[in-house]
Amino acid sequence: METSRESFDRSASACAIPEALARRLRTARRVAVLTGAGISAESGVPTFRDAQTGIWAHFDPLELATPAAFARQPRVVWDWYAWRRELVAAAKPNPGHFALAAIERRVADFLLITQNVDGLHQAAGSTRIVELHGNIARVKCARGCGSVDAWDDTDGSEPPRCPQCGAFLRPDVVWFDEMLPAEALLRAEQAAGDCELMLVVGTSAEVHPAAALPEAARAGGATVAEVNPNPTPLTDRVDYPLRGRSGIVLPALFAAAWPPSA
Ligand code: OAD
Repeated sequence: METSRESFDRSASACAIPEALARRLRTARRVAVLTGAGISAESGVPTFRDAQTGIWAHFDPLELATPAAFARQPRVVWDWYAWRRELVAAAKPNPGHFALAAIERRVADFLLITQNVDGLHQAAGSTRIVELHGNIARVKCARGCGSVDAWDDTDGSEPPRCPQCGAFLRPDVVWFDEMLPAEALLRAEQAAGDCELMLVVGTSAEVHPAAALPEAARAGGATVAEVNPNPTPLTDRVDYPLRGRSGIVLPALFAAAWPPSA
C-alpha cells in the first residue's frame, strides 16, 4: 500500500540505476544519507556554489555568514536571512525529498544528515534527521539564551533583541568560523562510520566537516553512491556516481529498489 507521499513519478526510472545498487539499498539494514543544497534546487531554493545561480556567486559569505559580519553590520545580516527565510518558507519539497522519506520508511537503521537549513526534508516526511548547519526558520539569542519564537521588529536600524537579556537575535544557522552543533555532528559521524550504504546527494562536498562523512563511510566499508548532475571532488572516489538531478534520480533509485509489484 502506497501513501500519497510516495506518489512521485516512478516512471522516472528512465534514469538508469545499476541493479547492484538497487539490491544494496533494498537489503541494507543501515543506510545514511548526506544532503546538500542541490536537493532543494528543484524546489526553487538556490544552491551556494553553482556558477550562475549559486548564492555565493552573488553575495560574499564573508559579508553575510560569519560572526564578524554580524558584529560589523548586524542589521544587514539579519535582513539577508529574513529574505532567505521567506524564500524558504514559500518552497515545497520536491520528488527527491519525498523519495528519501520513502526510503527511510523501508530501512531499519536510517539517518538523514543534511547541511540544509530549509526544513524541506521534514516537510516531505523525513523524521530521522540531523541538521548539521541549523535551521533558518529558527531564531536564537546571539548571547546564548536559546531559541526565541516571537520578536518585536519595529526598529529597522538593528536586529530585534532577545526578550530575556537584550542581546541581538540572530538566525539559528551555523556560520563560517563557527562550530557545528556537537551532538548533531557526533550522530552524523557515528551513522557514517556504521552504515552499509551512504547516499551523497546534491552537495559540492567542499565544506568540512560534512565533506568528510562520505570518507568516513568508505573507511567503515560502506558502499557510497553520489547523486549530482555535476562532478565533485568525491565523484572519482564513490562506488556509484549517478549523474543527474536528485528529483529524477532518487525516485528512480527508490523504484528500482522497491519495484511497484514488490
Ligand atoms: P553547494 O552549493 O556547494 O553545492 C550544491 C551541489 O548541488 C553542487 O554540487 C551542484 O552540482 C549540485 N546540484 C545542483 N542542482 C542539483 C540537483 N537538481 N540535484 C542534485 N544536485 C544538484 O551546496 P552545499 O554542498 O550544500 O553552509 O554547501 C555546503 C555548505 O556551504 C552549505 O550548507 C552552506 C554553504 O556555505 C552554511 O550555510 C553553513
